Amino acid sequence: MKSLALLITLGTAYTATAAPTPPQNEERGLLDGVLGLVGGLLSGLNDVTDQASALSLLKQVKPTATPTATSQASAALSSIYQSSPTPNNLYAAIGQVVAAGLTTNNINDTLSAINGGLTGQNSMTNNNPKNPSPAAFPKAGNSDAPYDLTEKQLRQIIYIPSTFQYGKKGAPQPVILVPGTGDTGYTTFIGNYIPLLTGSTIGDPVWLNIPGYELNDAQTNAEYVAYAINYIYGISNKRQVAVFAWSQGNINTQWAFKYWPSTRSRVTDHIAFSPDYHGTTFANFISLGEPLPPSLLQQQYNSNFITKLRSNDGDSAYVPTTTIYSGFFDEIVEPQQGTGASAFLKDVRKVGASNNEVQTVCAGQAAGTFYTHEGTLYNPLGFALAVDALSHSGPGQASRLNLGSVCAPYLTPGLNLADFGLTENSIAIAGTAILVYPNKVLQEPAIKGYATY
Ligand SMILES: *[C@@H]1O[C@H](CO)[C@@H](O)[C@H](O)[C@H]1NC(C)=O
Repeated sequence: MKSLALLITLGTAYTATAAPTPPQNEERGLLDGVLGLVGGLLSGLNDVTDQASALSLLKQVKPTATPTATSQASAALSSIYQSSPTPNNLYAAIGQVVAAGLTTNNINDTLSAINGGLTGQNSMTNNNPKNPSPAAFPKAGNSDAPYDLTEKQLRQIIYIPSTFQYGKKGAPQPVILVPGTGDTGYTTFIGNYIPLLTGSTIGDPVWLNIPGYELNDAQTNAEYVAYAINYIYGISNKRQVAVFAWSQGNINTQWAFKYWPSTRSRVTDHIAFSPDYHGTTFANFISLGEPLPPSLLQQQYNSNFITKLRSNDGDSAYVPTTTIYSGFFDEIVEPQQGTGASAFLKDVRKVGASNNEVQTVCAGQAAGTFYTHEGTLYNPLGFALAVDALSHSGPGQASRLNLGSVCAPYLTPGLNLADFGLTENSIAIAGTAILVYPNKVLQEPAIKGYATY
């Protein structure tokens, strides 16, 4: 397995002039305690070479600390990725995150949720009786690709909370929340944009609970996004929507814009948290051998899926897009620094692309310190840019923000330590979902016939 050590070293050098090292004395003590108590288990996870052993070790990890302040929790998290030796694989990292009490749930809780089937706000079989006008199926526009899924399949994964206002006069614009690999829309956003947006004047959220925890074919995942944009527009008085997505949700959305062009004019903004438009070079860290879930193979740096997505200016924005990413330290997507970041989107169509690495924009302030792949979801710069994007035409612009105050806190105002734990849960859920995924493959799925450009 590829070690994190080299990248962490590069990350430290990279941010040395940009951001202060977070205070770590008490947190280092906390982590040492954790390692002492469950050290055998965690070193076992570091040496693990197969998925079944990783799961059986992870199931035994108990939280052995209870952080009482966000500063303590965030510093403990950064210590995990900067300790020596650094975790050898994602599951060892997750074991340490759970052991340090940084997630709300342990792995058994997560497994029972997965095995028990998903209900309520995680449901993938919702009853959405409203029919959209204009129709969203079989095609919302002449140039749209054909769907492989039925309209019932496409529609039922949309979770519309009772708070949704259907674009009525005076309501904020609809926002579609798209999850990342290994999570539902609910588990991705319950610690961040669900509470931040619900009842707000910024945007009116619904979310997608994509079957297979986004581990199935990324092209299928994209069908759900394409349909949801046209469906929510069509049941919301033709109000244009915004899309907020995490991780793979962003490349699903980009694929939807590319091959379902009807969606483009119905979206004012795409807010992209930790996107991987170029996949990741970190596949070895995430994978314990093959076979793997299809969407993991598709998110390798030079996969067929990524190559097709990027071709014909697919690496440029189709709608005003605001990217928020962490150069220090995204444990899933690398490279994630500067203009070479996988998150970095070009703008040949001149629709507006604003790329924001939090350590660069918020250099020297709390919001520019250590953030994980999931941490961008609670980063206050991300929130301020999202608000800025939705309240102006074009993408969010850091130049319009008062960065002295925006970058001062570590968490978006309104979020607390419990939300931090709920957001960190998303990575433990993703790891578990990957390990138990039933339909693993040795080769990525074939590119669909419609994707000729
Ligand atoms: C999780 O469940 C297993 C039985 O499947 C048990 O051995 C283990 O102790 C449990 N882990 C925790 C942290 O409670």
